[in-house]
Amino acid sequence: MVKTWFVTGATRGIGAEIVKAALAAGDNVAATGRSVDALRNAFPASDALLCLALDVTDRARIAAAVDTTLARFGRIDVLVNNAGFGLLGLFEETAPGDAEHQFATNVFGLFDVTRAVLPAMRAERGGHIFNLSSIAGIRGGPGASLYCASKHAVEGFSESLSHEVAPFGIRVTLIEPGFFRTDFLDPSSVKTAAHPVADYAEASRAIHEGYAARNHQQAGDPAKLAAVTVRLANEPNPPLRFAAGSDAVEVVTAKIARLQGDLDAWRAVSVSTDGAFEAA
Ligand SMILES: NC(=O)c1ccc[n+]([C@@H]2O[C@H](COP(=O)([O-])OP(=O)(O)OC[C@H]3O[C@@H](n4cnc5c(N)ncnc54)[C@H](OP(=O)(O)O)[C@@H]3O)[C@@H](O)[C@H]2O)c1
Repeated sequence: MVKTWFVTGATRGIGAEIVKAALAAGDNVAATGRSVDALRNAFPASDALLCLALDVTDRARIAAAVDTTLARFGRIDVLVNNAGFGLLGLFEETAPGDAEHQFATNVFGLFDVTRAVLPAMRAERGGHIFNLSSIAGIRGGPGASLYCASKHAVEGFSESLSHEVAPFGIRVTLIEPGFFRTDFLDPSSVKTAAHPVADYAEASRAIHEGYAARNHQQAGDPAKLAAVTVRLANEPNPPLRFAAGSDAVEVVTAKIARLQGDLDAWRAVSVSTDGAFEAA
């Protein structure tokens, strides 16, 4: 069956590769992004492709983009909530507006697009939502606290949503990439906290130098991740979480060990807080 995909943040990077992979698989795609010209330059025109201007923070435009897609293709089978950016910097170097900007795109934009697409999926009694999380959604680390917070929000939301929509045949998969070779760490995408705090100067410098050195040197291949995403969309039993890349596998493995270790070390104290109440 030919599927219809709706992809956010498709102008470049992982989103653009997912559009190409879905088209190559013979599916229809609504490729959405902040610049419709960039979308038209990224993909050859075809009847299977609809390029739509969509900034995911522009709530009013989301419904129009979904309606245009439904008018053209009749349904949306796969939603890829990919649009996002990284805000790098230690928490105290950030301002409240930085947090709002980070969450407006990575979290509230994802909520709003999902809310707009779900009625069509429920009507079809089926669909698959891919939410781009990150290894930053699995473990917190120094230097990207607000980005980590946004991806942890995506994790909690997606796991909860998966239970709510399962009765309608709608699946949810979190994609958790490690470091992939896109513009993610490039000045054209990444934002940096702009309120230096002297106490953090040394740590901040080391973190920013580390990210800058990784820019366009990442091991992950976005085209391979896109091909896997198309494969997962065709799996009868896709996972809730998919770790992308060997670095992501290491991070998830270490997180499980850390959770298990803390739980085991403190198990007796944990259960000691149970009440000795009489059964009603
Ligand atoms: N690459 C990695 O190492 C990595 C690792 C873990 C998770 N991820 C996640 O993967 C997703 C894609 O990132 P990427 O690696 O492909 O980075 P990228 O090359 O920087 O691409 C980001 C895409 O998101 C779009 N975007 C940003 N804000 C938007 C908004 N408000 N509305 C619509 N589109 C918006 C950008 O559009 P413009 O072209 O208009 O800027 C661009 O198309 C993100 O959610 C990111 O957090 C990436």
